[in-house]
Amino acid sequence: MKDSHGRTIDYMRISITDRCNLRCKYCMPEDIPSIPHEKILRFEEILHICRLAGELGIRKFKVTGGEPLVRKGCLAFLKNLKELPATEQVTLTTNGTLLSGHLPELKKIGLDGINISLDTLNEQTFERITGRPEFSRVMDSVVACQASGIRTKVNSVLLQDINKNEFLSLVHLARDYQVDVRFIEIMPIGSGRQYRGCSRQELLSMLSETYPDYVQVHEHRGNGPAAYIYLPGFKGCIGFIDAIHGKFCSTCNRVRLTSDGLLKLCLYYENGIDLCSMLRSGHSDSSILAAMERAILKKPEEHQFHFTALEGPAEERRMSQIGG
Ligand code: 5AD
Ligand code: SF4
Repeated sequence: MKDSHGRTIDYMRISITDRCNLRCKYCMPEDIPSIPHEKILRFEEILHICRLAGELGIRKFKVTGGEPLVRKGCLAFLKNLKELPATEQVTLTTNGTLLSGHLPELKKIGLDGINISLDTLNEQTFERITGRPEFSRVMDSVVACQASGIRTKVNSVLLQDINKNEFLSLVHLARDYQVDVRFIEIMPIGSGRQYRGCSRQELLSMLSETYPDYVQVHEHRGNGPAAYIYLPGFKGCIGFIDAIHGKFCSTCNRVRLTSDGLLKLCLYYENGIDLCSMLRSGHSDSSILAAMERAILKKPEEHQFHFTALEGPAEERRMSQIGG
């Protein structure tokens, strides 16, 4: 469907859990309390919402977390989501620690793509950022995932003074493997506020020192706001998700479902509707559908990152609660 700003909304990001087995400094650094199990939507409830979303023209789903693969039953859920009548595409965002063993099954389900978060190729730096010694398992997952034939993207968040120096090594993943590598600018969400990230401009000027002949890709790749470039001879592309410096709200195509059942219209905007309460208090499908439609129509025109400094955060949730 279209929202009141003329944007076609056809994509939903679903956080199926706020829990994670890593502790990335900028996401959930210390042991924060998790949402109690009874407040988390059951898989049947999520599928119910997705079926209704399908009726509104939302046909592409990204399953995320926390870490989605820590939730029991994730694979069966992915299969059921893929089989809903309106579904066109199901993709997964994961930290890769638990992925490689599941790849044959995910391939069988027909998963349309996997995004793996990996900020460094250095074991020590990995542990410094994520708090866990899991580098080799994640790297193995990246290699196995692209070899499985499932479309694979690596997502990296570069931080000043921590891993910015690894920019080129990460770029080279797209030379050596069939993966797109995307650099996500850190957003001032939760602990992310404490770090300084890298803008696309800064990264492109670093890149052009080694690869002055990079080529802008104009074709649209995937559902997201990434702008891509291509380096001659590389197997995959390099993308930049310029969350702060380059606002992409005007082409936003998405809504989000948090693990506790809030339909969020914007990543960084404290509004949404509590679909969990509606489902559990026995609202009819038609009244839930009408509420979703009304909410999507009111999707905010743009995010509020620019208000943070002056007025305090417009969004108190962490990335692991919203779904990265
Ligand atoms: N800003 C940008 N990206 C973030 N992620 C987690 N927190 C933030 C933040 N504050 C990223 C993770 C992962 C994806 C799911 O979200 O690095 O790649
Ligand atoms: Fe877990 Fe991803 Fe957050 Fe890291 S960024 S703690 S992997 S949810």
